[in-house]
Amino acid sequence: MANKILVTGGTGYIGSHTVVELQESGFDVIIVDNLSNSKIEVLDNIEKITGTKPAFENFDLADKDKTDDFFKRNGGIDAIIHFAASKAVGESVEKPILYYRNNLVSMMNILECQIKYDVANIVFSSSCTVYGQPDVLPVTEQTPRKDAESPYGNTKRVNEDILNDTVAANPKLNAIALRYFNPVGAHPSALIGELPLGIPNNLVPFITQTAAGLRDELKVFGDNYNTPDGSAIRDYINVVDLAKAHVVAINRLLSGKNKTNYEVFNLGTGFGYSVLEMILGFEKATGVKLNYKIVDRRAGDIEKIWADTTYANEELGWKAEKGLEETLLTSWNWEKYVRGI
Ligand code: UD1
Repeated sequence: MANKILVTGGTGYIGSHTVVELQESGFDVIIVDNLSNSKIEVLDNIEKITGTKPAFENFDLADKDKTDDFFKRNGGIDAIIHFAASKAVGESVEKPILYYRNNLVSMMNILECQIKYDVANIVFSSSCTVYGQPDVLPVTEQTPRKDAESPYGNTKRVNEDILNDTVAANPKLNAIALRYFNPVGAHPSALIGELPLGIPNNLVPFITQTAAGLRDELKVFGDNYNTPDGSAIRDYINVVDLAKAHVVAINRLLSGKNKTNYEVFNLGTGFGYSVLEMILGFEKATGVKLNYKIVDRRAGDIEKIWADTTYANEELGWKAEKGLEETLLTSWNWEKYVRGI
């Protein structure tokens, strides 16, 4: 019988791509999502890609009774991938309690249920935000974490600690924290992708919406950083490559290949691109010119970060494969699908 995986936040951006990869690898998937930042139609499009509509329940994992009831009714879950979380850095500064409640309480509810209902394995969706601006680049898993710049970033850091402490006290539990760099792109079918509500905060959705004519111009936040062209540098990883790493992490836990019961991996490409290089890459990949202007730096942004991928590549046997232009073209195809152009 196929292994059953609970994917929280499975209708979201990274979650939906991961559900597709899990189903294509033969897993049974059940999604829990409160649809606070995603649409129910994602399920139909997952079905169009994989031929299978994943099981789905709509509730908030910060609700302890509902979470307990879910686990009571759904025996036989072999592993959990926990994506469900609020993720807007700026909003988290305005509404810290909302972020702490959503992100920390849901993590604790899930872990309590794992112990109570004997679900041994969990993969947690963490972020390179836990490194802040590192003193040395590229960033390895041993690079010290820094104090978070935002409540959102702090929820990732504290959730890592909650996970680490909980597995230490419960030897039957096994956890992998995956620290994502900057996920971009969409499924090559253009049936699923990133769907920000309102004005996008992130670079690539802002680029594609500007190209589609929804935004007048893209603002480049700063050209006076200590980088070759002055704009900030990130490690942009294709979301399908990222999704595949989750399947590898799940297989690692299910086959007991994990070395300790709390492991951490950086998921990036190992290459950094500046904002201006991203604009150029998009224009080259799509042939669409972008209207942009340089403005002041955005508060809370770091200058540059990219991953050392050696440990993830060697230990997981996984590597990000897709190039930047190919990836940006998938973002554009998705935007065109969403806008009907
Ligand atoms: C941030 C978080 C990251 C989180 C992600 C999810 C930090 C340090 N990083 O990533 O942990 O997972 O959001 O939402 O907290 N840019 C522009 N113009 C724009 C938008 C962005 O120039 O309109 C620039 C930014 O200044 C930055 C780069 O593009 O240099 C990437 O920005 P963004 O996509 O927002 O991601 P991060 O801030 O790196």
